[in-house]
Formats: sequence, structure tokens, C-alpha cells
Amino acid sequence: MQEHAKRFAVAVAIAACCITVSTALAAELMSLRGSVGIEEEITAPPIAPDVNDDQRQMRNYPEQPPVIPHQIRDYQITLNANKCLSCHSRQFTAQSQAPMISITHFMDREGQILASVTPRRYFCTQCHVTQADIEPLIDNDFQDIDSLISAEGSNEGSQ
Ligand code: HEC
Ligand code: HEC
Repeated sequence: MQEHAKRFAVAVAIAACCITVSTALAAELMSLRGSVGIEEEITAPPIAPDVNDDQRQMRNYPEQPPVIPHQIRDYQITLNANKCLSCHSRQFTAQSQAPMISITHFMDREGQILASVTPRRYFCTQCHVTQADIEPLIDNDFQDIDSLISAEGSNEGSQ
């Protein structure tokens, strides 16, 4: 009987401990809503402006779809019209001075090169996005391959 009571006390202690830890965690966790309770309504923050400086950004790795350095508000992509292609397709780059969609945008899944943009790459904003002019929500410690290689090189040098 006494053994039973002891076990019960331990279980209660563990439960209390869990509750304390989880409330502490809940207090620290910040969602996009901030620390506002789920039952409260908040006014949405203003939408951040898109970067629109026309400066092409460095890619973090060669396969990265480049980010869009201009605004794309009201640029329609529908079955009948693709505003992006009115500047970026092969036919229109002389007029627009926009970089042409690269050769991969003409390839079907067998690697066959088509005459115009492949259906797989028709919906541009599936892969290409504008950037918001804001502080990042969380830090990012991504390092590109050149930094990794040069760090490795200097490590080997010191051995
Ligand atoms: C009015 C012409 C025009 C339209 C429409 C347009 N672009 Fe552009 N785009 C440009 C030009 C010009 C550049 C070169 C940088 C600059 O001047 O902004 C560019 C740059 C880009 C780049 C950067 C390329 C790189 O190598 O860094 C991407 C990605 C891009 N556009 C995607 C799009 C997408 C997706 C759409 C449709 C939602 C679109 N563009 C619509 C003219 C246009
Ligand atoms: C499935 C993803 C995907 C879609 C959809 C897509 N792209 Fe890309 N795009 C990429 C990738 C990945 C790259 C970089 C590597 C490459 O060229 O394939 C790229 C590169 C580009 C570049 C730079 C080309 C260069 O030579 O510097 C432009 C401009 C571009 N895309 C425009 C567009 C436009 C306009 C559309 C819509 C018609 C589009 N992309 C649709 C993935 C995509």
C-alpha cells in the first residue's frame, strides 16, 4: 500500500514538472501573431513592400531559381496570358532587356527541348518570388559552397 502511495506521489511530481515546463515553453514560443492569445483578435500588420530596385540578386547555389527584383503586382498568369513571358520569353527580350528564361524552361521531363516554354515552367511564381523589404523573422546561418570550401582549406592549412 505504501509502495502504491509512493508511486502516486512520483507520478504527481512528474506531472507537475511537465506542466511547469510546458507553460514556460508556451510563454517563450512566439508565433506570427506575436504573444496574443488565441481568443483575442488583432489587426493584421501592413503588408511589407516588395523589393523593386531592379538589381539581380546573387544565387546561393547554381540551381536556385533567381528571386524577382521587381514588383509583380497584377501580373497575370492564366491559361491564355502570361505577363512574365511578355518580357522574359525569347521573342521579347530585345524590347524588354529582361534576361531570357533559360534553356531548362524549354525542356520537357524527358529533356527534349521544345519550341517555347515547357508546361512544367509555365507558372513562374511556383518557383520565382519577390522579396519583402523587412528584417528576417528568424536568423539564417546558411553558408554557400565557396565559404565552406575556403573554411575547409584554411582548416587543412592549420593541421
Ligand atoms: C515589363 C517587363 C517585365 C515583366 C512583365 C516581368 N519581368 Fe522579370 N525582369 C524584367 C527585367 C528588365 C529584369 C532585369 C532586372 C530588372 O531590371 O528588374 C527582370 C528580372 C527578373 C528576374 C531575375 C533574373 C535573375 O537572373 O536574377 C526574375 C526571376 C524575373 N524577372 C521573373 C519574372 C516573373 C516571374 C515575372 C512575372 C510574374 C516577371 N519577371 C515579369 C522585366 C520584366
Ligand atoms: C519549376 C520551377 C520554375 C518555374 C515554374 C520557372 N522557373 Fe525560371 N528558373 C528556375 C530555376 C531553377 C532557374 C535557375 C536554373 C535554370 O536556369 O534552370 C531559373 C532561372 C530563371 C531565369 C534566369 C535565367 C538566366 O539565364 O539567368 C529567369 C529570367 C527565369 N527563370 C524566369 C522565369 C519565368 C518568366 C518563368 C515563367 C514563364 C519561370 N522562370 C518559371 C525555376 C523555374
